[in-house]
Amino acid sequence: MIKLAPSILSADFSNLLEGIREVERAGANLLHVDVMDGHFVPNISIGPLVLESLKSKVSIPLDVHLMIENPDGYIEKFSTDNTEIITIHAEACMHLNRTVQAIKSLGHKVGISLNPATPINYLDYVWNDIDMVLIMSVNPGFGGQIFIKEMLGKISDVRNEIDSRGLNIDIEVDGGIKLDNVKEVIDAGANVIVAGSAIFGAEDVYASTKRFLEAMKET
Ligand code: DX5
Ligand code: ZN
Repeated sequence: MIKLAPSILSADFSNLLEGIREVERAGANLLHVDVMDGHFVPNISIGPLVLESLKSKVSIPLDVHLMIENPDGYIEKFSTDNTEIITIHAEACMHLNRTVQAIKSLGHKVGISLNPATPINYLDYVWNDIDMVLIMSVNPGFGGQIFIKEMLGKISDVRNEIDSRGLNIDIEVDGGIKLDNVKEVIDAGANVIVAGSAIFGAEDVYASTKRFLEAMKET
């Protein structure tokens, strides 16, 4: 199934719940929550306290993207009843398998994210343990950046790898996705689309979500 995961990073944080209600009402499938620590990426965003107050109020499942160094000590803090998946960065984990197992033991799906320059073989020994690969199509840290075109080939390579292994793993793509390139991203093999500025940066968040869902159907 092809899913849309609007990223709240570009939302108006003074009216966060209001923005979330718009994407929910329009039919978004997941809510993408970007967590940044100022070390792994050069920015600081939201943390566990925000998740704590949102968890019972958001009606779509949470897709938590941890852009933090050594996430092990924080995994539990992002584990809520409404957390569907926790994604960590392969580059940020000293013991990747351990962190993957820690997420699974809390009953969540596991995603592993790769920065644009990180090769796919980082996943070689965890393919059988993961539910999603998150391909970064910008250097993580900020919303509103330009999609790195070379990532289309990487998406196809990951899709081929998953298919050749006979696995059922989602491919999420995050960064620079707009109405005019979402089709290419899906055609390359992605099935979970993150969009931040294109949705929450728009004047009418409900309408921009609807437009994305429509464009995704056409693929
Ligand atoms: C970037 C974040 C993204 C960000 C995407 O580091 O992981 O989720 O919100 O924003 P856009 O869609 O504006 O590139
Ligand atoms: Zn993200």
